[in-house]
Amino acid sequence: MATTTLPHAQWSSRLGFILAATGSAVGLGNIWKFPYMVGQSGGAAFVLVYLACIAFIGVPILVSEWLLGRRGQKNPINTMSTLARKHGHHRNWALVGAIGVLGAFLILSFYSVIGGWALAYIRDAVLGGFSGLDKAAIGAAFDAFLARPGELLAWHSLFMLLTIGVVALGVTGGLERGSKLMMPALGLILIVLVGYGITTGGFGEAVAYLFNPDWTKLDGKVLLAALGHAFFTLSLGMGVMMAYGSYLGEEVNLLRAARTVVLLDTTFALCAGLAIFPIVFANGLDPAAGPGLVFVTLPLAFGNISGGLVLGALFFLLLTFAALTSSISLLEPVVELLEERTPLKRVGATVVAGLTIWALGIAALLSFNLWSDVKFAGLNIFDLLDYITSKFMLPVAGLGAIVFVAWKLEQEGVRKELRLGTGGFAVWKLLSRYVAPIAVLFVFWHNL
Ligand code: PHE
Repeated sequence: MATTTLPHAQWSSRLGFILAATGSAVGLGNIWKFPYMVGQSGGAAFVLVYLACIAFIGVPILVSEWLLGRRGQKNPINTMSTLARKHGHHRNWALVGAIGVLGAFLILSFYSVIGGWALAYIRDAVLGGFSGLDKAAIGAAFDAFLARPGELLAWHSLFMLLTIGVVALGVTGGLERGSKLMMPALGLILIVLVGYGITTGGFGEAVAYLFNPDWTKLDGKVLLAALGHAFFTLSLGMGVMMAYGSYLGEEVNLLRAARTVVLLDTTFALCAGLAIFPIVFANGLDPAAGPGLVFVTLPLAFGNISGGLVLGALFFLLLTFAALTSSISLLEPVVELLEERTPLKRVGATVVAGLTIWALGIAALLSFNLWSDVKFAGLNIFDLLDYITSKFMLPVAGLGAIVFVAWKLEQEGVRKELRLGTGGFAVWKLLSRYVAPIAVLFVFWHNL
């Protein structure tokens, strides 16, 4: 337990923290999932509901998780147990942290599998693997890729190796430095791709698709999907933001930081849409293709347009960077826990956590081939992991965090820490005590 006496790591600057948190938020969720969800859930109606969920539910939970982490200065489990003890509450509040860390652990196992696909597609794009193929051939190539466990394993391993490598370098030397390098690159690539989108004939259609709501498509399911995605994209309920908050000092204004992170995250998601949909429309492809949108629909376009080689390589590089800045954040709470609760040091803790997650990831990737028949309640292992985490663990942990801040902490202290006046704090209280928890409860109940 010697490590607990060491001073806890701190972000080296506010910018470093913001970039790391944005890196966590911006991920496969923004570039792979958001566009296809928009496509499946009726375009702009989904976008508007999603934005409301981010503002009224996402921001309060994000701020709550940071606030708890900053007050606790420990891994999510110890943070929650320390704060519960200090304020005279039941030590079972530590469960909120535990569910979060476990959630991060489980999510990373399958997140890394998809990160591996992104890496594999960089190779395919660079080698011109999409060129001249028609729709059936591209779809078949994707299916064939998923059917080869050895290849999936190699890419998953490489992706995990990169993740472990960055996290092993520590909070400032790894997470912060990695995000400082990758986030600007990410922004730049996205600007180039949106720029290309503007030059295609499909840009106007893409804008209309993203921003002209068709309210008839809005139903309960879309609402739930939007809220679930708001959670996922802000990395909430997974101990991630709590862990990131634990490296924060007093000088950071949490609400202002949240505004920046949320704005950047949303901008990335919308720009991903503005990069992807023009290509889809200009080539007469289907915007509602679902999860295959970036792995089948886009390669089809890249294989048949001039400059497709470069655009394709850039796009999958973007996807990989986005995935990597998120995967390192998913590993962090697990590593922080091991560092503080076992004799392991940074590197050892990262390797142990990383390898365990890598092993679980193998079960996830086998669900696409050898183990496709292994099902629990009708779900293969990959879908099961996704289901349990996003439908249960994430809302429970997020709810726990905000309820603790809104109902279990002394409120005047919270007001001061958020640097709010009475008016602003009244709004905060309304959101954090009622709006956000009730919305999450509603979703949770609905999932049951
Ligand atoms: N926010 C990331 C994304 O949008 C995913 C993620 C979830 C990362 C939870 C960390 C924790 O892809």
